[in-house]
Amino acid sequence: MADGLRKGLASYGDAGFSLFLRKAFIKAMGYSDDALNRPIVGITNTYSDYNPCHGNVPQIIEAVKRGVMLTGAMPMVFPTISIAESFSHPTSMYLRNLMAMDTEEMIRAQPMDAVVVIGGCDKTLPAQIMAAVSADLPTVVIPVGPMVVGHHKGEVLGACTDCRRLWGKHRAGEIDEVEIEAVNARLAPSVGTCMVMGTASTMACITEALGLSLPMSATIPAPHAERFRSAESSGKVAAAMARAKGPRPSELLTAASFRNAQVVLQAIGGSTNGLIHLTAIANRTRHRIDLAAFDQLGRDVPVLIDLKPSGEHYMEHFHHAGGVPKLMAQLGDLLDLDARTITGATLREVVAGAEDVPGQDAIRPRGNPIKAEGAMAVLHGNLAPRGAVIKQSAASPGLLQHSGRAVVFESVEDMTLRVDDPALDVNADDVLVLRNAGPKGAPGMPEAGYLPIPRKLARAGVKDMVRISDARMSGTAFGTIVLHITPESAVGGPLALVKNGDMIRLDVAGRSIDLLVDAAELEKRRGALAPATTPDWARRGYAHLFNETILQADEGCDFDFMRGQGKG
Ligand code: FES
Repeated sequence: MADGLRKGLASYGDAGFSLFLRKAFIKAMGYSDDALNRPIVGITNTYSDYNPCHGNVPQIIEAVKRGVMLTGAMPMVFPTISIAESFSHPTSMYLRNLMAMDTEEMIRAQPMDAVVVIGGCDKTLPAQIMAAVSADLPTVVIPVGPMVVGHHKGEVLGACTDCRRLWGKHRAGEIDEVEIEAVNARLAPSVGTCMVMGTASTMACITEALGLSLPMSATIPAPHAERFRSAESSGKVAAAMARAKGPRPSELLTAASFRNAQVVLQAIGGSTNGLIHLTAIANRTRHRIDLAAFDQLGRDVPVLIDLKPSGEHYMEHFHHAGGVPKLMAQLGDLLDLDARTITGATLREVVAGAEDVPGQDAIRPRGNPIKAEGAMAVLHGNLAPRGAVIKQSAASPGLLQHSGRAVVFESVEDMTLRVDDPALDVNADDVLVLRNAGPKGAPGMPEAGYLPIPRKLARAGVKDMVRISDARMSGTAFGTIVLHITPESAVGGPLALVKNGDMIRLDVAGRSIDLLVDAAELEKRRGALAPATTPDWARRGYAHLFNETILQADEGCDFDFMRGQGKG
């Protein structure tokens, strides 16, 4: 196969002319023939003024280019979509597959022998890895790294667990307008991704466990010099992969490496979103994520990382305690340490190089875990025939077995309008139900599963309630929250049948979520549901594609035609 600049020529019916033309145009940028004859390492640029999480991307790119050139290869930077959580309407999840398609096609369309993808804000690493897996070019992933922590009144703060916690206090009247504004300026004190175990940190750790990034790259704080030295090293590795024409993602990503990723997901107290993204990545390969096996891992794998929201520390503390290599050393035989990484080293060799940090308490030994069981449990029942997920490590133990009366919100808008209404018929033992917030329903499966505690209850001191939905939840959130109910209500899932006052039973130990209404009554309600129609928002463009082809949460919310085997 052709390599370097000769790869993937534009079609003019004459390959010699295509190359002649390509070289003529690229020379306009001042490149020499010597430069143009080198192996090429493509580098994605996801810098955007709308994406503060990626604020260090220009500096990372410079470091990667330095690493590539130090080995005598040729770096070429190209732009792709950038997605920032708080600047993505309607949701960042709505755009993840667009970024995956953009990144994949740009990797395919342009000549490169290896690619370095640089991302971090929640949906970007999943999109980039989905793309890399489908393009199957040798790939190095560089997470942009977490922010450093903030401080307020002697307290350590982190986005966005403390965003939610302190906003909750503001809603409850415990923090006034002046103080909440001061907090607002201190929650995100540097560029980089949220520094708790949210989705960004989760995906960075999973990426390292999959062997797609360099050791320690998940945890190095975004502004640290070490972040840029790691990027330089990543450039060198990518150049070596370009020359060796491997390893490709299809050679690295084995059943064992996907299992390792799931073990790490459980052990870090990872985000529930990580399960959806890992499922989407696996579905682009010949491997699959089995929810029953994932749940079993949750019973076998303890939470070892003491990070918010399941614990107390932040990503920089995890890093200084030894990072993912030290975590994998503690996990030991729960992992398949023969799995390989981009450098050719096995995880066993990575683990052997893990730093021992006396006195650190961010990475616990298996004999003294944060939680004896893993972060997540998979629930089934008549409310969730294809499954639902709860992050039990961040839930209130007293609510893990609970029956309560349903208080139903028809949509995110309905919930926003009514949840604080003093006249709302709700008490602390009720179960808050949100529907029409799934992949199709909202659309884009917003992180609305963390329904706020109704203000009158919050002011009475209620900190947690059972909340259930077909939505997602930020990995930074805390509470007894059942998510990803599948199938979603917008496609006729049983969540659509719940009425105010119905009893709902949650039994996390028994892995069940049930609506305590008899089957005949449910059938009657099903018969009364309005038939599905194409919503107005989905009549054209990307929205139409999204609505027609989005898969449910248990299939990773990819488009049906983007899976490894294509449509059908
Ligand atoms: Fe970008 Fe949290 S908002 S990682």
